[in-house]
Amino acid sequence: MTDVVTVNGEPLSLDGVDPNETLLWFLRRHGLTGAKEGCAEGECGACAVALLRVHDGGARYEAVNSCLVLAAAMAGQELVTVEGIATGETLHPVQDAMVQEGGSQCGYCTPGFIVSLFAEYYRPGRDGYDPEAIGGNLCRCTGYRPIRDVARAMEPVPEVGEGDRFAARLVQGAAPLESVSPGSVGEGERRFYRPETLAELYDVLGREPDAKVINGGTDVVVEVNQRDARFDVLVSLEGVAELCRWDDADDALTIGAGVSLSRVEERVHGMLPLLEELLPLFSSRLIRNRATFGGNLANASPIGDGAPALLALGAEVVLGSAKGERTEALDGFFTGYRQTVLAPGEVIVAVRIPKPFPQLGRFYKVAKREMDDISTVAAAFAIDVDDDGQVTSARLAYGGVAATPIRAHDAERSLVGAPFTASAVADACAVLKKTLNPISDHRGSEKYRRAMVEQLLRKFHAETQMGGVLP
Ligand SMILES: Cc1cc2nc3c(=O)[nH]c(=O)nc-3n(C[C@H](O)[C@H](O)[C@H](O)COP(=O)(O)OP(=O)(O)OC[C@H]3O[C@@H](n4cnc5c(N)ncnc54)[C@H](O)[C@@H]3O)c2cc1C
Ligand code: FES
Ligand code: FES
Repeated sequence: MTDVVTVNGEPLSLDGVDPNETLLWFLRRHGLTGAKEGCAEGECGACAVALLRVHDGGARYEAVNSCLVLAAAMAGQELVTVEGIATGETLHPVQDAMVQEGGSQCGYCTPGFIVSLFAEYYRPGRDGYDPEAIGGNLCRCTGYRPIRDVARAMEPVPEVGEGDRFAARLVQGAAPLESVSPGSVGEGERRFYRPETLAELYDVLGREPDAKVINGGTDVVVEVNQRDARFDVLVSLEGVAELCRWDDADDALTIGAGVSLSRVEERVHGMLPLLEELLPLFSSRLIRNRATFGGNLANASPIGDGAPALLALGAEVVLGSAKGERTEALDGFFTGYRQTVLAPGEVIVAVRIPKPFPQLGRFYKVAKREMDDISTVAAAFAIDVDDDGQVTSARLAYGGVAATPIRAHDAERSLVGAPFTASAVADACAVLKKTLNPISDHRGSEKYRRAMVEQLLRKFHAETQMGGVLP
């Protein structure tokens, strides 16, 4: 049983921790006040810490928002905070560079930037500047140029034997996560579990029918922080090895419901353009290092971005419970506003994307900001055409235009069998106009959404005909 988290090389006891307590407040209670609370909802990165994660026979550091991580879920895990990055009086190269470049003014955001830059410094395969490394960190006063210059000027990833203690730590690997049950972490009436296997998970869910399941926590902990939700029983999925499965078979790609979106992003690179387009638009790397497709689909938000992309790919969801597993089409998984076919005690085990992948596929996100924003309308389209240019299959999926993410079946039918031309797309748009009834809200009016629904399909047609991407 693991009741400690290792912070900067030292064990900190999790005894007595409320299962709802965030890692940020746990660290600050222990005097580690470098991590700051800016927004408490994953938007600013001031609270970033670097978590040690298993990677390729060794380990890697991943920066995460500690405001959205439960302290209890850190049992047996290891992390570095801004306090642990320097070695004695010697600054880490990223800290030193921040000083040299003048990357800090009031300093509130600086610890978060340092942690994100630190994780980037050790990122396996880093090759040049990647703006995503600091895309989840906000600074109100410095201006980003000096901070970006630090990221740009990084030396290559240090090798073991070059005297870098973190590089030496990474080759030792990360401990597999052990089971956590009430008693080993937490106290009182509130209970926290972190099963290691699906069988153990189903057993816990059978005994604790009111449990709240949590994976990356990027939705659940926002509820804790912003809506004052308190859960009496929390079951973390992050230790369940079967949920991290990745199976690239001839007939389908199966992605475990607990694989972080950053891992998905790395692994689909060069394989599945539609997901490659989606993931950089999905919040920031700080969020993607924790967020999962399991959480994204289960929360059933009508404006979630994973659903339209996966609907266009014709994905299925593998659902599991003590009664066994069943596979359901994702089209049919959402039954109403924030409602799904998940039965009590049932979880999403994996997402299955059938092969062959569509010939033409794209994802579009319309939001007030280009990056790191919530969709007003999201759309994903996947089309197959035969040698004569006739559409043989079409999947048109939208988010933000109904109570659930949807497929536009009528418009799909109007495309199939027709040549993929501007005129066929115009016909499909006429069908979309008649069959979709988006609502108005503070993100966009009904009229605006209607316009987007059609324009995005036209854009898809134009781009795929031109073989490029329109500005
Ligand atoms: C700053 C910020 C930016 C965001 N940006 C985006 C964005 O651009 N696009 C977008 O779509 N979303 C976005 N989100 C929402 C969120 O990150 C995603 O929905 C994410 O995929 C949730 O995954 P998670 O593992 O963190 O879920 P959690 O918070 O752990 O869980 C979410 C819900 O799913 C349930 N759940 C989790 N896993 C399972 C499972 N395997 N089976 C059954 N139920 C499960 C939980 O009980 C909970 O109800 C953002 C969130 C934040 C805080
Ligand atoms: S406090 Fe802003 S991301 Fe955590
Ligand atoms: S230095 Fe003030 S917020 Fe960044």
